[in-house]
Amino acid sequence: MTTALFTFTDGARQAAGLASECGIPVNQIDVHRFPDGESLVRVHGAAETALLFRSLDDPNAKLVEVLLAASALRDCGAEKVILVAPYLAYMRQDVPFHEGEAVSQRVIGKLLAVWFDGLLTVDPHLHRIASLDAIMSGIPALAVSAAPALVQVIAIDLDPRTIMVGPDSESRPWVESIARPLGLDVLVGEKIRKGDREVMLTVPDIDRASGRPVILVDDLISSGTTLMACASLLHEVGATRVEAVATHSLASGTDLERLANTGISRLRATDSTSSQIASIPLSGVLANAIRGQGWLD
Ligand code: R5P
Repeated sequence: MTTALFTFTDGARQAAGLASECGIPVNQIDVHRFPDGESLVRVHGAAETALLFRSLDDPNAKLVEVLLAASALRDCGAEKVILVAPYLAYMRQDVPFHEGEAVSQRVIGKLLAVWFDGLLTVDPHLHRIASLDAIMSGIPALAVSAAPALVQVIAIDLDPRTIMVGPDSESRPWVESIARPLGLDVLVGEKIRKGDREVMLTVPDIDRASGRPVILVDDLISSGTTLMACASLLHEVGATRVEAVATHSLASGTDLERLANTGISRLRATDSTSSQIASIPLSGVLANAIRGQGWLD
């Protein structure tokens, strides 16, 4: 059976790393954008199992293009088309928070399950459902954790007095899974979101961060508001240094600058997106999952 990875131009660097870890070829997918905004997608090459690599940050155009690419891959003979989307968009809206709102998570899950035979993603934002199976029935939908990749980089030059801080209660299991192998203490905040760029945040026992270096850990940096609020509180109680590490960085250049101005001395994320702070490779974590699913056999 032949297996190959297919990638759009965005993400080509990450796809090359993953293809090399998996020992499979990587083929290009071209997109032509018409003046009216439509996309024409063309895949190059063919494989019986096609691993379609695309992170779904900036999701609207990208989602349509991955569906078109999945269809083209089948037309070219693929028996199985697997979506490898290190960042999976539209997962945060998992209930209608206000009357009349669409539940985006359900809609996107259902759509992808129609077009793909499997899905692999990293740390999706699943807070009210236990696993992706609940929204993607009938296909294997695998969510792997970036924690091993984060642990590896955090361990380098780690000051043992460091305290690890998760900004909200939802982050607790995830932060603990990173702090535990590093032997670090953990603090977890409580957050109420008031708007896209407004949060109310408290950190119980925050005085424990006084005089110590802190590493803030979150699954996602979007506007950066959560990390900024948390970093300000930590500076107020006298943390000696505040760094932040996240799985996904969706933040704009301006928001990253604002984060640096809040006194976050180092900001790192995985290469699930092509953000300027995306320095931690996910290729190892993704390749293990692909192998484990038997998609290379
Ligand atoms: C929320 O529950 C997530 O874990 C992140 O804390 C959140 O999405 C970050 O968003 P922002 O950077 O806009 O505060």
